[in-house]
Amino acid sequence: MGSVFAPNLWDMLKFWNSSVGKKVVMGVTGLVLVGFVIGHMAGNLQIFMGQVRYNAYAKLLQEDIIEVTWAVRIALLVSVILHVLSAWQLTQRAWAARPVDYSIREAQVSTYASRTMRWGGVFLFVFLVVHLGQFTLGWKWLLPEFIRGAAYGNVVLAFERPLWVAFYLLAMFFLLLHLVHGTWAVLRTLGVAKNAAEPLARRIPWIIALVVTVGFSLVPLGVALGVVR
Ligand code: HEM
Repeated sequence: MGSVFAPNLWDMLKFWNSSVGKKVVMGVTGLVLVGFVIGHMAGNLQIFMGQVRYNAYAKLLQEDIIEVTWAVRIALLVSVILHVLSAWQLTQRAWAARPVDYSIREAQVSTYASRTMRWGGVFLFVFLVVHLGQFTLGWKWLLPEFIRGAAYGNVVLAFERPLWVAFYLLAMFFLLLHLVHGTWAVLRTLGVAKNAAEPLARRIPWIIALVVTVGFSLVPLGVALGVVR
């Protein structure tokens, strides 16, 4: 039996097997991802400061200090895998607990954001794969004009197409819902927000979600409106 400070592998497996453990893992990995999206949104807004500045940010993300880049990438990858895995397993458990669906489905106290977590999450995962294919991996079928190292040009070329603007704005809508409910849920799971009706704790998720998604949305909108070209 390991102590609280040095849990052994057995304790960690027992924790992971419990539903509370999976919720904590989902919450903590979610917080890591929130940290990244806040930084990435701020970095992306530099597109309004011109090509040189934006490409410098993209280079920082990509290759400037290669050890840091890979440490961040591995942390993000592990977080995404654990986040999706715990969400998937919790969903399986919830479905197994109620194999026959309710005959009448009428929301009582749940919010729209909480009800779209699963399918919204699946859409965000698809978005992430498309996004990395388009701007990082350079899949030509997503962006035929992709040039490695020319992030500014890649972004402008993508968002000159209304379809990509619509796709990104839709993704930001789901990200908004996911962040509102997700940050609220993690505050509850970790015991930071003890009172469900506490107005400040209720507002924090909305502020984070709105800042992140409005910030990101300004990029495709800036290109579509001709402010960035
Ligand atoms: C309008 C919204 C967004 C724009 C314009 C944008 C732009 C970019 C660009 C240009 C790159 C490539 C940088 C480079 O390789 O030189 C990139 C990489 C990346 N983006 Fe985004 N992004 C947006 C939203 C998001 C969101 C919402 C997420 C996460 C949910 C995300 C996650 C990532 C990740 C993980 C990378 C790879 C970082 C790496 O190479 O290690 N992005 N993004």
